[in-house]
Amino acid sequence: MTNFSAARILAIESSCDETAAAIIENGRLLLSSVVASQMDIHARYGGVFPEVASRQHVLSITPVVRQALSQAHLSLADVDAIAVTRGPGLAGSLVVGLNAAKGLALGAGKPLVGVNHLEGHIYSSWVCEPSAQEQELPPAPQFPLLALLVSGGHTELNLMTDHLTYRRLGATLDDAAGEAFDKTARLLGLPYPGGPSIQKAAENGNPKAFRFPRARTEQPWDFSFSGIKTAVLREVRQRQADAVTVPVEDMAASFQATVVDTLLVKTLAAAREFGAHEILIAGGVSANKALREAFLNQTEFKVNIPKFAYCTDNAAMIASAGYYRFVTGFRSEMDIDVQPNWPLS
Ligand code: KG4
Ligand code: ZN
Repeated sequence: MTNFSAARILAIESSCDETAAAIIENGRLLLSSVVASQMDIHARYGGVFPEVASRQHVLSITPVVRQALSQAHLSLADVDAIAVTRGPGLAGSLVVGLNAAKGLALGAGKPLVGVNHLEGHIYSSWVCEPSAQEQELPPAPQFPLLALLVSGGHTELNLMTDHLTYRRLGATLDDAAGEAFDKTARLLGLPYPGGPSIQKAAENGNPKAFRFPRARTEQPWDFSFSGIKTAVLREVRQRQADAVTVPVEDMAASFQATVVDTLLVKTLAAAREFGAHEILIAGGVSANKALREAFLNQTEFKVNIPKFAYCTDNAAMIASAGYYRFVTGFRSEMDIDVQPNWPLS
C-alpha cells in the first residue's frame, strides 16, 4: 500500500466525554480540529457519568462540527467523506456522533466511513499540524512497527506490517494502564482524571521510595496492572491504620515509574523479537511525560508519539484513520450501529 489518492475527510468523535470534529487532507495535514471537553462536568462525579455524557454530546455536536468547517474555511461540499467513531466506547455517547455523521453524509451525499476508536489512536501519529504545510510534512511512521496502545480502557501491543493491519501480540489481563492510573489516583485521594493528577503529584515525589511489584505474565507480551494497584492500596491502608500521613507524592512517583518501566521493557523486547523498525505509542497515557521521556531516551528504535493535543480523545486521529480506510475503498452502510466493545483486531 504506497500510493494514496487525494481526499479530504471530515471526522466526528464522541466515544466518551469529548465531543470532537476535525478535517484532514490526505490523511496527514490537519485543516481543523475542535474538541469540546466535558471534563469539568464529570469531575464532580469522580468519573464519566454516561447519561450526562451523551446529553452533553447532543448539545455540543452541531456547534463543534460547524466550528471545524469554519476553521478550515470549508463547507460540506468540499469534503470527500464523513468518518465517525463507531466504537469502542460508551453506547449512548457513540450514538450521538454516529447519527450526526449519518445525517451529514445523507444530507450532503457523501460516503460514510465507520472507524475504530483504537485505530484512530494509532493514526494520531500520522497527524501533522497546519504549520507543517509551509515545509515538507515530517516523515510518516514506517512499517513494520510495534504499536503500544495505552488508553483508559485498553493496553495492548500490536505489530503493524502495513496500514490498517494489526497483529495483536498481547494485552492487559486485567486493568488497562490508564485505568490503573485512574484507580490509583482515587486510592491516593487525587482528583479525576487520574493520569494527569498522578503525573503532577509524581513531580515532587521519589520514584524509588517504594518497590511496587512488576507482574509476570504467562504469555510474554501480556500485561497486568491490578497487582500494582493492590500494592498501593495495601500501603495506604497500613498508614491509615497506623494513623500516619500517606506519602502521596512518593507513592505516585513510584507507581508511575513502575508502570512506565513495565511498558518500556516489554515494548522494546517485542520490537526486537518481531523485527519492528519503529515503535509507536498511542492512547491517553501517551500524554504522560515520564512515559514519553523514557521512550524518547532509548536510542535503539525511532519512536512515534503524537503531539500532546492528539494523545487524548480527538477527531483528527479519526479523520486520519478514516482517510486510509476511505482511499482503500472502505465504505459503511447507512444502517450501521455503534459497537461499544469493538476490538482493534
Ligand atoms: O485515550 P483516552 O483519552 O480515552 C480512552 O480511549 O480511554 O485515555 C484516557 C486515559 C485515562 O485513563 C487518563 O487517566 C489517561 O488516559 N491519561 C494519562 C495522562 N493523560 C491522560 N495517564 C497518565 N498520564 C497522563 N498525563
Ligand atoms: Zn481514546
